[in-house]
Amino acid sequence: MFKVCLFPVIIFLATVLTTSSTQPVLKDTFKGYFLIGAALNQQQFSEEDPLSVGIIKTHFNSITPENVLKWEAVHPKPDSYDFAAPDRYVEFGEKYHMFIVGHTLIWHNQTPAWVFQSANGNTLDRDTLLKRMREHILTVVGRYKGRIKGWDVVNEALNEDGTMRQSPWLKIIGEDYLAKAFQFAHEADPKAELYYNDYSLENEPKRNGALALIKKLKSQGLPVAAIGLQGHDKMDWPTVEQEDATIAAFAALGIKVNITELDIDVLPPATRNRGADITLNVELQAKLNPYAKGLPDALQQALAKRYADLFSVFVKQRNVVDRVTFWGVTDAASWLNNWPVRGRTSYPLLFDRGGQPKPAFTAVVQAASITKP
Ligand code: GLA
Repeated sequence: MFKVCLFPVIIFLATVLTTSSTQPVLKDTFKGYFLIGAALNQQQFSEEDPLSVGIIKTHFNSITPENVLKWEAVHPKPDSYDFAAPDRYVEFGEKYHMFIVGHTLIWHNQTPAWVFQSANGNTLDRDTLLKRMREHILTVVGRYKGRIKGWDVVNEALNEDGTMRQSPWLKIIGEDYLAKAFQFAHEADPKAELYYNDYSLENEPKRNGALALIKKLKSQGLPVAAIGLQGHDKMDWPTVEQEDATIAAFAALGIKVNITELDIDVLPPATRNRGADITLNVELQAKLNPYAKGLPDALQQALAKRYADLFSVFVKQRNVVDRVTFWGVTDAASWLNNWPVRGRTSYPLLFDRGGQPKPAFTAVVQAASITKP
């Protein structure tokens, strides 16, 4: 009799205690809304960084490789591919049941010079470069057919004014290099989702360029599944209105929207150019690295509010947003510690250098519950 009466009380107490001491889980918080991804470095997917791996397994259900599938890493020489690292990346994703993303097939950066040259060093002709592109895409996408579920086919083809970037791809092949890349990727894995990925698309001129580009690809029957908005954001850019309008504009083309490389830079701007051109390199000065000893609380709270504002847009647009991927796991390994200035102390993500959730983490979780029915 005594036992029967106490049992529900014990269960109740146990539930209250475990719930109040358990941290919310990002991927569960946004379940039914969108996937929550992280870009991983080699130590992370090789499970040599237990702190990050613990966070990844718990909170994320999608992964993107930071570098190992870029051309220079996977295909460093004309006749040699290096699949050791990407194989481990894909195995990691399968082990933890993640939606595995491939990044990136065709880009102007981190692509070796030989790609655009003949054996004697001359600039390649269109047909030979197209052949090389097809061979690369068929080999890389083909190797992970059915396992990598979505590919950034082309990265950063546009200038800030919305015109086409004069990359070696464009100069040698012409504007249809994008159509060809999508065609080859589809040929290699007809079931993979194919994406166009770029930064600063929240700015109207560049956004209009991307809208035109995708309309054209779609009119040619190419299967563009989604736009990737990189989301290398600042504290004051893009505005909530810009983010909302950008997502709506791409959704109106009948494609999905992925936020693919999200982070928020709290450090002082080092250049007037506020895009995400990875070739920028500014010299380190103390005034550009003001929070080397820690982020002041007011800024920590401002970052949390900024994350909450952006996530309220993603949640509002959850019918078209498929995935929100952070560019990194903890602040410790973010690229923003070394770009556009090497050696700064940056705070762009949801987990601090010790792997602890920041106020921004709580704010993001709350942004979901506010709008949940
Ligand atoms: C771009 C690329 C990414 C990465 C980031 C910075 O946004 O798409 O692969 O290089 O820059 O690390």
